Amino acid sequence: MPDVGGKSSHGGYCGPAMKPVALHLVSCAAKAVKIPVIGIGGIGYWNDAAEHIALGASITQVCTAAMHYGFRIVEDMIDGLSAYMDDHGFRSITDFRGRALQNVKDWETSTSTTKLSPTLKKICASAANFATSPVRTARTSASSLTR
Ligand SMILES: Cc1cc2nc3c(=O)[nH]c(=O)nc-3n(C[C@H](O)[C@H](O)[C@H](O)COP(=O)(O)O)c2cc1C
Repeated sequence: MPDVGGKSSHGGYCGPAMKPVALHLVSCAAKAVKIPVIGIGGIGYWNDAAEHIALGASITQVCTAAMHYGFRIVEDMIDGLSAYMDDHGFRSITDFRGRALQNVKDWETSTSTTKLSPTLKKICASAANFATSPVRTARTSASSLTR
């Protein structure tokens, strides 16, 4: 626990682990409102900021990474983002802001097994059979007894 003047506190959710949650919320907000959305959460590198922008953020904020590595990382982020934009011919962030939103679907639809190749479906089916087979279950029970 950090010591600030002899007092301490639990922090909020922050850092790299928050990025998937933050990206989800940014995309929801960007779809729902017509005002600028700020992308915050898990940004440490230029590509994290680019992902927030592609999902609709107009500006981004960095906290944990700047605390860990110092404000110098902002220069690296500017360099990385500028190179990315040059590579893609983007003149400003409005050229790619929200561009990925149309590809964001619920995971239930994007991981549908109907999209797997027949070979992959066979492998999945035999893996599932193996996992639930009586022989394996007996072996697993036996090995857990000997641990
Ligand atoms: C030590 C610390 C102090 C923070 N203080 C504030 C604050 O005073 N007000 C606020 O709105 N958010 C505050 N936050 C939350 C950050 O602004 C940010 O939303 C959060 O940390 C997620 O971004 P990150 O992953 O870049 O850290 C704080 C976060 C940390 C780690």
